[in-house]
Amino acid sequence: MRIVSGIQPTGNLHLGNYLGAIRNWVRMQDELAEGGECLFFLADLHAISMPHEPAALHRATLEMVAALVACGIDPDRSVLFNQAQVPAHAELQWLLNGTARMGWLNRMTQFKDKSRKNREGASAALFTYPVLQAADVLLYQTTHVPVGEDQKQHLELARDVAQKFNNDFASEDAPVFTLPEPITPPEAARIMSLRDGSRKMSKSDPSDMARINLTDDADTIVKKIKKAKTDPEPLPSEAAGLAERPEAQNLVAIYGALSGETVDAVLARFGGQGFGAFKPALAELMVEAIAPITARFRSLLEDREALDAILARGAARARERAAPTLEAAYRALGLVRG
Ligand code: TRP
Repeated sequence: MRIVSGIQPTGNLHLGNYLGAIRNWVRMQDELAEGGECLFFLADLHAISMPHEPAALHRATLEMVAALVACGIDPDRSVLFNQAQVPAHAELQWLLNGTARMGWLNRMTQFKDKSRKNREGASAALFTYPVLQAADVLLYQTTHVPVGEDQKQHLELARDVAQKFNNDFASEDAPVFTLPEPITPPEAARIMSLRDGSRKMSKSDPSDMARINLTDDADTIVKKIKKAKTDPEPLPSEAAGLAERPEAQNLVAIYGALSGETVDAVLARFGGQGFGAFKPALAELMVEAIAPITARFRSLLEDREALDAILARGAARARERAAPTLEAAYRALGLVRG
């Protein structure tokens, strides 16, 4: 089994990022252990498909590597790298541009969403984004790709590209590309703002009290939980009782995501109690789960040499794994390669 997944670098990482994509990666890595290999990368090449600020992208890329390692991605067991240091991604994308059809790309809903009111002004990179994503996956003979709902269509496209390329340019007994299968990651908890339970926890919320940052120390975490918005009612004893109580719902969901329990299991313990009792329990659990991560994250952020070394080694390992497939693709197309 070979699992490949990418994530766009974003800065100001918070609890929502950890309990969403990042923790799923850590679990996949740990579960796969002996039975295969995970390649995880920062999709920095994808990030330039939208207007961006170079300094912010640079910073976010390093920050995200630090976060991934702090959260448990082990650069010895998994191959951790950024696309920009593995030119094979951009090279294979160009080769696959000959196979991907305009009609296929025209149907991609992400392009429609992201270019919405200004198709003419959208970058060409935004349009061919799914072809780069296909290259990301096909380059490594990937067998499985974890995909959320929003990325299913892109994986389908990668399969279509692989199939057509194999049909057009390879013999049946020696296909160039493996068709990757989707795996559905476990449903990630939706972590909402601590100030407004109807809005997602976000890096761009003007109030820092609305989120737990991956740089927050234990005291800050405790303070933010203490100040989190709630309502005056005690907790219900079943999940149904949380309807119409978005703040209560969010805090209980966070507790469950951290302890590994269902909402009902948490409520079976805390039902009937007020937030005066629940908040200290939540704060304690969160500090236990998050403080070691935030400490590691802060120290890695200050160790630029360590981050550079992690990425350099990851990129070297990725380049090694990518080389045979890239070479096979060039040759299949009849391109002269000395
Ligand atoms: N497009 C993905 C996202 O925005 C990120 C991504 C890029 C990716 N290349 C990938 C995910 C390859 C899986 C496999 O979430």
